[in-house]
Amino acid sequence: MCGIVGYIGNRDAYPVLIKGLKRLEYRGYDSAGVALLNGDTTIYKKKGKVSELEAYVRGKETLSTIGIGHTRWATHGKPSDLNAHPHQSEKGLFTIIHNGIIENYSVLKKTLMDQGMKFYSETDTEVLANLIEYIYTSEDISVEVAVSLALQKVVGAYGLLVISREDPNLMIAARRSSPLVIGLGSNEYFIASDATPIVEYTDRVIYLNNDDIALIRRDELVLKNLVSESTKVNIKTLDMSISEMEKQGYEHYMLKEIFEQPRSIMDTFRGRINSETNEIRLGGLLDVKDQLVNAKRIVVIACGTSWHAGLVGEYLIEDLARIPVEVEYASEFRYRNPMIGPDDVVLAISQSGETADTLAAIQLAREAGALVLGICNVAGSSISRETHAGVYTHAGIEIGVASTKAFTAQVTVLTMMAIMIGKEKGLLSEKRFSQLLKELNDVPGQIEKILELNEEFKHIAEMYKDASNALYLGRGVSFPVALEGALKLKEISYIHAEGYPAAEMKHGPIALIDEKMPVVFIATKDSSYEKIVSNIQEVKARNGVVIAIVTEGDSIIKEIADHVIEIPKSDESLVSLTAVVPLQLIAYHIALMRGCNVDQPRNLAKSVTVE
Ligand code: AGP
Ligand code: GLU
Repeated sequence: MCGIVGYIGNRDAYPVLIKGLKRLEYRGYDSAGVALLNGDTTIYKKKGKVSELEAYVRGKETLSTIGIGHTRWATHGKPSDLNAHPHQSEKGLFTIIHNGIIENYSVLKKTLMDQGMKFYSETDTEVLANLIEYIYTSEDISVEVAVSLALQKVVGAYGLLVISREDPNLMIAARRSSPLVIGLGSNEYFIASDATPIVEYTDRVIYLNNDDIALIRRDELVLKNLVSESTKVNIKTLDMSISEMEKQGYEHYMLKEIFEQPRSIMDTFRGRINSETNEIRLGGLLDVKDQLVNAKRIVVIACGTSWHAGLVGEYLIEDLARIPVEVEYASEFRYRNPMIGPDDVVLAISQSGETADTLAAIQLAREAGALVLGICNVAGSSISRETHAGVYTHAGIEIGVASTKAFTAQVTVLTMMAIMIGKEKGLLSEKRFSQLLKELNDVPGQIEKILELNEEFKHIAEMYKDASNALYLGRGVSFPVALEGALKLKEISYIHAEGYPAAEMKHGPIALIDEKMPVVFIATKDSSYEKIVSNIQEVKARNGVVIAIVTEGDSIIKEIADHVIEIPKSDESLVSLTAVVPLQLIAYHIALMRGCNVDQPRNLAKSVTVE
């Protein structure tokens, strides 16, 4: 999950590259580099952030109208100047940048070393650079053919840009599993891992598919497959804006995206809920509606926060639509030889639409004959193209590595699906259906009210920013919210946090309770309220510290807990949309107080496009 950017045209390439890398830095940021072709190949690369590369290059020679840039998330070889991309082949004939993993790199490396080729880095990527050069110099073939032949020998994933001083007016882009988008200008092309570096130059793009190879010259682009057969060019129009990508006055993207949730939830149900006609219409599912409504089983495949959204979906779909749902970690599903077949509906949930494990799980489900649906936040993403049908969350671009508005948008789609199916199956009365629609319509306003409590969340964060551990507990549909709250805290503040079903606490975690560890309860008024009050009592009886998210007006928990956060009353089915917001902001403030990089937490990247 690195960031790749390339430019070929008539502009000065370097400014396009460095600006593009800054837009892509959320995808990976342990080291960065650029290569510029102008007669010879000039490479600047180093460990650290893009801003450090920029400072390093300042004042150096960068004149060129063709170049490539990379911001890395290391898989093979630690973050270092040497392992940073771009990587050159031994004789310097080829320079490449790569997103993905060359799984058979060690076999290839041994073969090339037996042929006397030298290596200078620990990466798998350098092996590919040398393989291309070895093939090119062994036979009398073109740069393009050498790249194709080399890629035919590769096992694994790549999003790749290749430039060569052997053909200085050619840039080659190739893709297998790791995303690449090509922006079409006039006699210039912009290539990147996603559209964010491209949108300011053009809205005409091509999304590369697996085994596509694009041969890009200033005046033409030719698309071929791995065996050099020409393939059709499918030009799309981007629908994102630059302003969406800016922080718009917020200190961090994460904070902006948390505060965008009233709008992103509204945008996600806008045009899909009609309160007058009492209807939910998910256009992307119309062709498969019958199969979905009559599904014997729905299998959700996802990772991380999207998996938590899927767990909310399980509770809602089983409760409202009475269809059995199983929620699987995509990374487990793809390897455990699961029971899956033509009678199943598989639902892949992904913000980025590029998560490697989820893509692989989709492939497995398709091969098993299942109907595979997607819930994605990025139009044109791989998952949105690999699934049979699906629903886009209209959360807008999410740049903070910690997912926030995408989660609530995913839950909004899942809620609409559950209600729609429940009604289609005659399980929801008109009254219940319209009540749920009304309550869903009220959610953005409820979140606006919660966001006004930001100072309160900051105060709580101040009290617990030095905790070493934290426990998040919930029952029913608030259990996935507990998991999500714990993930937010641990991934941006580096405090160990666990989410647990509240009732499970007595089966082990209660041993952790002490006066130092904050225990966060989602304890809103619902069918298990009395039970969760008892759980809070159990923690207090052991001198535990309790922070409770409660329904406004709650007078019982106020007497027991150390801190209560009152949120507006909502239907039990919808509480995950509102209860998660305080947890997002508490995690944000604690991370900030701990001096952590909120938008780019250590070791993480926004889109995990490697296994
Ligand atoms: C969530 O805050 C994390 N960034 C991570 O768990 C993320 O949800 C996961 O990698 C899945 O990403 P996706 O939704 O883009 O597939
Ligand atoms: N596998 C390559 C490396 O470790 C690329 C990693 C990435 O996708 O950032 O350098």
